[in-house]
Amino acid sequence: MMNRSIQPHGGRLISRKAKPSDVDKILESVKDTKGLTVDNRTMSDLEMIANGALSPLEGFMNSKQYMSVLYEKRLPDGLPWTIPITLACNRQIADQLREGSIVPLYSEEKELVAVLELEERFTFDKEKEAILVYGTTDDRHPGVYRLKKSPDVYLGGKITLVNRGKWMAFQEYWLDPEETRRIFSEKGWKTIVGFQTRNPIHRAHEYIQKCALEIVDGLFIHPIIGETKKDDIPAEIRMKCYEILIKNYFPTERVILAVNPAYMRYAGPREAIFHAIVRKNYGCTHFIVGRDHAGVGNYYGPFDAQHIFSEFSPEELGITPLFFDNTFFCKVCGNMASPKTCPHTDEDHIMLSGTRLRDMLKQGIFPPQEITRMEIASILIEWIKMDKGEKDMLPLLMDR
Ligand code: ADX
Repeated sequence: MMNRSIQPHGGRLISRKAKPSDVDKILESVKDTKGLTVDNRTMSDLEMIANGALSPLEGFMNSKQYMSVLYEKRLPDGLPWTIPITLACNRQIADQLREGSIVPLYSEEKELVAVLELEERFTFDKEKEAILVYGTTDDRHPGVYRLKKSPDVYLGGKITLVNRGKWMAFQEYWLDPEETRRIFSEKGWKTIVGFQTRNPIHRAHEYIQKCALEIVDGLFIHPIIGETKKDDIPAEIRMKCYEILIKNYFPTERVILAVNPAYMRYAGPREAIFHAIVRKNYGCTHFIVGRDHAGVGNYYGPFDAQHIFSEFSPEELGITPLFFDNTFFCKVCGNMASPKTCPHTDEDHIMLSGTRLRDMLKQGIFPPQEITRMEIASILIEWIKMDKGEKDMLPLLMDR
């Protein structure tokens, strides 16, 4: 039985996975057709459109959807949506494609991944997209940098996913929205809080997760495993950290860990809404938004990602955000706290962030218990000591 407590965004969970019985037919139909090679970020989008995580989207945005999302933060029918989901293609290739045709999409390893029913080719203004989505045109911002380097034409249209091979790492944690919805329902959970992360879980993460778990039935830890910044800690290492943390410090029957195929945009406020909608599609009723959610550098105010939620009504969003202030370890209280719960001064506080943790690791400092649990610190220290050769091998572990 499906979890009835929360509807997918737009009311229907999309599936754009090819039926096994159709795969050969699709392969045959495009075998002589010129296709497009897509990068890892597009692989993430394809996977998420296909498994319904991006419901109600059925493909890459056409110009009407794109402009509406950019300027209104909504799809043309008014449904909240803040991040453009687009497929960029260079002009030469785009010129050779015909609208109305089927375009095969290949992975960098030259495997057919999906087909696109090409509805529209359109050009776009990179500066406009940068300022509206990321709030800056500064190409030191990783999202802006990628946007400026991307090809100049967007291809819109529905997709059908043919091959999921590339993603078979972390297999036991690979749960599609229909599966998480089923699991939540089987567990009898009526309220589930989703947690987005791109970092190994530090004490602030653990604290806000546990605060949230005090008021809901289940916790869904849903780390991003698509592309992140080069200096973020790789997904393979983070997964080890999540596993040991849950085993040693969480009531395992109240926690589900699964991987989220998305890549990080670092779009701060707009990405916070996007992250919430995606978790709604996975069946969450609540979503944690803390300090500088999906932020990078100083491009966003620490709570901008919370303020943006007031632009949408609770009904149209359909998932309840749980906001957290900046949390830290207070030496006087002897526990985690925030300005809402602790009267002591900054000098008494140990500040926590993924950036601070990474900086300590780079300097070879073993992070103390107040910042991250010892088991996690050990995994991270071991990782930082890996030689470059071993680190380069990590992405290979992700293939199959
Ligand atoms: S993010 O890019 O995925 O947002 P990260 O994995 O560090 O980065 O954060 C996961 C969630 O924890 C986000 O909601 C973020 O706002 C929150 N968070 C991280 N550190 C803190 C902190 N010290 N205090 C409050 N919230 C925090």
